[in-house]
Amino acid sequence: MTKQDPTAVPPSYDHAVIVLHWLTAILVVTLFALAEIWSFLPDGHLSDGMQSVHISLGILLAAVLGLRILWRTIFAKPIPPATTGLQHMAAKAMHLALYALLVCQVVLGFLYCWGGGPAVFFGLFSIPSPIKIGAVANNWIGFLHYYNAWLIIGLAGGHAVMALLHHYVRRDHVLYRMIPIGSARSPK
Ligand code: HEM
Ligand code: HEM
Repeated sequence: MTKQDPTAVPPSYDHAVIVLHWLTAILVVTLFALAEIWSFLPDGHLSDGMQSVHISLGILLAAVLGLRILWRTIFAKPIPPATTGLQHMAAKAMHLALYALLVCQVVLGFLYCWGGGPAVFFGLFSIPSPIKIGAVANNWIGFLHYYNAWLIIGLAGGHAVMALLHHYVRRDHVLYRMIPIGSARSPK
């Protein structure tokens, strides 16, 4: 982090980027938690219901992620980088990796779902499969969807720890870029 004027208001992302970032984070953690919880449950209404909610929230994540990538690349207000040199490159690589893995996860999720039928959004509408997926391919897709989920949770966890280290150890303004509440004050 470069030297800061403690009285200056640090730059933050625009409201759309911030709202879409936190919506993505909530959806990813909820999708993962649902899958982990239903894996401990016996087959039945509860686990079926959780799987349907997982698919519906997965469709929502696809929309949020699409909007987020569109906004970030076309409309978002550019802000100066928070760090320089190697640290900046590492943060950029981490963000790009998260975007790429999330896109893969959404594609794998839809394919996995279509292996068994259309993707239904809370009973309101359904998205039928545009392709035929065989049983062997579906097993592979499920395998990749499962391990990619762990990769995303691991990277996102590391990313969150780094953001908290910036805030509580380095005491700079990186976290305020995504949570601009109280950003006029220097972190204590
Ligand atoms: C970051 C987002 C996501 C995460 C972290 C995630 C995570 C998981 C995990 C851990 C499983 C269990 C896999 C297994 O035990 O083999 C699973 C299953 C599944 N996911 Fe996702 N998923 C995500 C997004 C999606 C999306 C976007 C869709 C489709 C719209 C989707 C559809 C499915 C389906 C159909 C299953 C199998 C359900 C069943 O067993 O019947 N997922 N997901
Ligand atoms: C599943 C959870 C999460 C995912 C997938 C995720 C993903 C991302 C991505 C892709 C970016 C890059 C934004 C861009 O430039 O377009 C970003 C930025 C950021 N995230 Fe997260 N994030 C998650 C959770 C968190 C959490 C829990 C925190 C805080 C504890 C956090 C703090 C930040 C901050 C401060 C930035 C801005 C960093 C900078 O400007 O250099 N994120 N996040």
